[in-house]
Amino acid sequence: MSSTELNLILLGPPGAGKGTQAERLREDFPLAYVATGDMLREARREGSELGGKAQEFMARGDLVPDEIVIGIVLERLSADDARDGFLLDGFPRTVPQADALAEEMGKLGRRITAVLLVEVPDEEIVKRISGRRVSKAGRTYHVEYDPPKRAGRCDVDGTQLVQREDDSPEVVQARLKKYHEATSPLIDYYEVLGLLRRFDGSRSPTEVHDHIRATIATLRLEDQL
Ligand code: AP5
Repeated sequence: MSSTELNLILLGPPGAGKGTQAERLREDFPLAYVATGDMLREARREGSELGGKAQEFMARGDLVPDEIVIGIVLERLSADDARDGFLLDGFPRTVPQADALAEEMGKLGRRITAVLLVEVPDEEIVKRISGRRVSKAGRTYHVEYDPPKRAGRCDVDGTQLVQREDDSPEVVQARLKKYHEATSPLIDYYEVLGLLRRFDGSRSPTEVHDHIRATIATLRLEDQL
């Protein structure tokens, strides 16, 4: 791996602000962005077989089976634009997914630079998700914390903002439960490997972003020592 290669994972509960931070980090670093939720929603919009399979799991707040998700992520990571670094958002979400990623990295002689854990209490998550609105292209807003300039319209392309179908209160509770059961064990998994970096996601998006950027700068310096 070259000393400048950044292979980052964004970890955290639903609605923690992973997508919000990813949008900013992509402006800072030229990384291939791999967001499994976006890929699965895109597959659904296209009406592909994969989209059809994922739909029932996503609609009830369940995780899409490992064998489906692992396949699409490993294929995406082998694309040319992911060779010099990537930002994973929403993957891995289970220990088998993390094991599959580690095995693939080992085969390619690459390694994960850091796992960025964005921590937010459950009560705050519910407020964030209930106020989230998204544009057709997937740009994210919040009616209170990050409102668009014109109510209900995307600042960039003017399309109508809508609520994601899995953002209903019942489905959010199911997603949070799943996070605590299946995904939170990855915190220890990556801590033991010395890869975990924690961020207080209850701060403002700019504060969280500044903290992540400073951490990445330090990691790069350490890599060059
Ligand atoms: P996915 O799309 O990955 O959803 P998620 O992890 O639940 O995360 P979200 O997109 O809901 O939230 P986020 O952390 O990105 O927060 P955001 O920045 O939008 O996955 C959806 C589904 O796909 C899963 O449930 C599963 O079914 C399936 N899936 C995906 N990956 C899978 C995998 N690996 N394995 C199996 N299944 C998989 O912010 C939320 C809101 O808060 C926004 O309105 C934003 O404006 C606001 N906000 C953000 N930051 C702040 C802040 N600091 N202060 C105040 N407000 C803020």
